[in-house]
Amino acid sequence: MFKNQNFNYAVFGNPINHSKSPEIHGFFSNQTNVFHTYESVNVPLDEFVSFLLKFFKKHGKGANITAPFKQEAYLFCDKLTERARIAQSVNTLKKVNNKYILGDNTDGIGLLSDLIRLNFIKKNNSILILGAGGAVRGILFPLLSFGCSVFILNRTLSNAEKLVVQFSKYGKINIFDKNSSEKKHFDLIINATSKYDKNNENNIDVSFVSSKTCFYDMNYHKYDTPFFSSYIKKRSNGIGMLVFQAAHSFFLWHNIFPETNYIINSLKRNMK
Ligand SMILES: NC(=O)c1ccc[n+]([C@@H]2O[C@H](COP(=O)([O-])OP(=O)(O)OC[C@H]3O[C@@H](n4cnc5c(N)ncnc54)[C@H](OP(=O)(O)O)[C@@H]3O)[C@@H](O)[C@H]2O)c1
Repeated sequence: MFKNQNFNYAVFGNPINHSKSPEIHGFFSNQTNVFHTYESVNVPLDEFVSFLLKFFKKHGKGANITAPFKQEAYLFCDKLTERARIAQSVNTLKKVNNKYILGDNTDGIGLLSDLIRLNFIKKNNSILILGAGGAVRGILFPLLSFGCSVFILNRTLSNAEKLVVQFSKYGKINIFDKNSSEKKHFDLIINATSKYDKNNENNIDVSFVSSKTCFYDMNYHKYDTPFFSSYIKKRSNGIGMLVFQAAHSFFLWHNIFPETNYIINSLKRNMK
């Protein structure tokens, strides 16, 4: 089932060969001197629970969970942090006192940490999110709690509507009506779709962006998303979010928050 039977930490997903998590956690371990063996595990789609049970029965102390298992992980946990309970999605597991499994979601706090680092976000900002998938579930509570108002635009309207109903008790959240006559400039636009197509429904009128609008693409590929690239100059991909969600997981496991700038810059330089 596992390549090396002795590791204590791992990321579980399918597919997993693209994962940068082992490299990031290896860096955190060296930098903090915390002994932290970390592997990636490709899990057959119908064997997630049996893999986790075996891992935690053997040497497992903590895990990261990536697509498509974050909602299954939510159901697997014995206890949840508040942000995981609200997101109904888990990307971090910790075996506590050898007794129970705690589930957390560090995606949203990871994104917020990177937006703060980049100076892309302020309280009361108006944010447009493109997409309404699992990742958006993780980022809404931290963004709303920070004091921002959120608008969602998604290919499938009903998926966005479900999120608005679920999260409206935590702050100002609405469906974005791109045909609205009331033109306002967004402070920040976040691409949380897994496939950006410049001719698709996520295109909006230029009157919704200004020279101060920031654009954050949660994906981390080499090529910049062509979303108003000639108008929006403050832009970033999602490498920083990836590193910060890992750093918050590391903190949950070891109570030490690792340094993040060096690995963010190194991954950005080496992006394929
Ligand atoms: N940087 C990080 O640390 C980090 C963390 C988490 C996720 N991510 C990235 O964020 C992205 C979203 O992840 P997820 O877990 O939310 O995925 P997901 O649950 O599969 O959701 C995908 C979203 O993209 C939309 N979409 C897919 N294909 C589209 C197309 N051709 N045109 C328009 N919209 C399309 C879907 O719309 P429908 O509702 O209409 O299907 C849905 O809103 C992924 O690329 C993932 O790698 C990055």
